[in-house]
Amino acid sequence: MDLNGILNKFKEEIEKIKEKELREAKKFFEEVKVRYLGRKEGIIPNLFKKIKEVPPEKRKEFGQKINLLKQEVEKTLKEYQNLLKEIEKEEKLKKEYTDITVKFKEFEAGSLHPITKTLNRIVEIFTNMGFAVADGPEIELDFYNFEALNIPKGHPAREMQDTFYITKEILPRTHTSPIQVRTMLSQKPPIQIIAPGKVYRRDSDPTHTPMFHQVEGLLIDEKVTFTDLMGILDLFLKEFFGENTKVRFRPSYFPFTEPSAEVDIGCVICNGKGCRVCKGTGWLEVLGCGMVHENVLKNANIDVNKYQGFAFGMGVERLAMLKYGIDDIRLLFENDIRFLKQFKPILA
Ligand code: FA5
Ligand code: MG
Repeated sequence: MDLNGILNKFKEEIEKIKEKELREAKKFFEEVKVRYLGRKEGIIPNLFKKIKEVPPEKRKEFGQKINLLKQEVEKTLKEYQNLLKEIEKEEKLKKEYTDITVKFKEFEAGSLHPITKTLNRIVEIFTNMGFAVADGPEIELDFYNFEALNIPKGHPAREMQDTFYITKEILPRTHTSPIQVRTMLSQKPPIQIIAPGKVYRRDSDPTHTPMFHQVEGLLIDEKVTFTDLMGILDLFLKEFFGENTKVRFRPSYFPFTEPSAEVDIGCVICNGKGCRVCKGTGWLEVLGCGMVHENVLKNANIDVNKYQGFAFGMGVERLAMLKYGIDDIRLLFENDIRFLKQFKPILA
């Protein structure tokens, strides 16, 4: 046994002795109490019984003397009993004492996954601008995922969003755009929502995974213009990537928006000079957007003479990669602790 072990054993012994001592002291005082005050055979009650034998004229004096003695014995006993109680209390407190200065083993705090952090930040920026958060199912009907979005069966745009069909009509959603339709069918304009969620496609390479995250945005109201869309996205990207971020709108095509655009930001890796990540162009694509197509509004029973709106959709992994300088999307899903450890502090 080492020195600490011996000392601990010794401490234990002392504690045991103390406990025993206390117990014996209590027992002793109980015995003394019975010996002096016990109803049957106690010394003082016996003295009282003897009063009868004392001549009447002396009885009062005798009685007073016994009473005095009784009071004294009671007082002394009480004092010692109180003292014992104090000692007992102190011992108990000593045992319950917690040394809050003791240094304990340090533990490592975990951190949020970079995708969660990116999603949280996106949602925070848009909710600050007045967008509400909407939701939809991950397993979706062909109608919401394609048909209602102006992508009928056989449309070439289906090719780019091939996925793992469950039945001919049921599939894991390939984008968050079906939430546009679901929201318009369940809410009256004005509508101003974002919808974050998981989506699934038949993709796998350094910038594409079979499951990834998107955030959809939808705003429907009277007199909404493409300029409103540009202003909101410009503001979002500057909030997300920094005030000096360059933003560019480039004409594009989506069946569910008209006109459509893709948005690029000045490459955050090379500051627009041209590098491997931006393939020498100085620009990086971050999202797709446009004015909601009339056919989509009609499919969702919106009065197209009164209302218009815009929609946008962004890839969350893409934004996370650009923000944190991650050059392979698959790192986000391998859950290598050495990779994840770099994303501290927890909340920022
Ligand atoms: C769409 O999915 C449209 N629904 C976006 C949209 C919404 C346009 C509303 C207009 C109005 P696209 O297929 O380009 O568009 O995907 C959007 C983003 O998702 C891409 O820019 C990219 O960042 C990301 N993305 C696409 N496929 C993958 C994948 N396999 N892995 C990771 N990210 C992906
Ligand atoms: Mg695209």
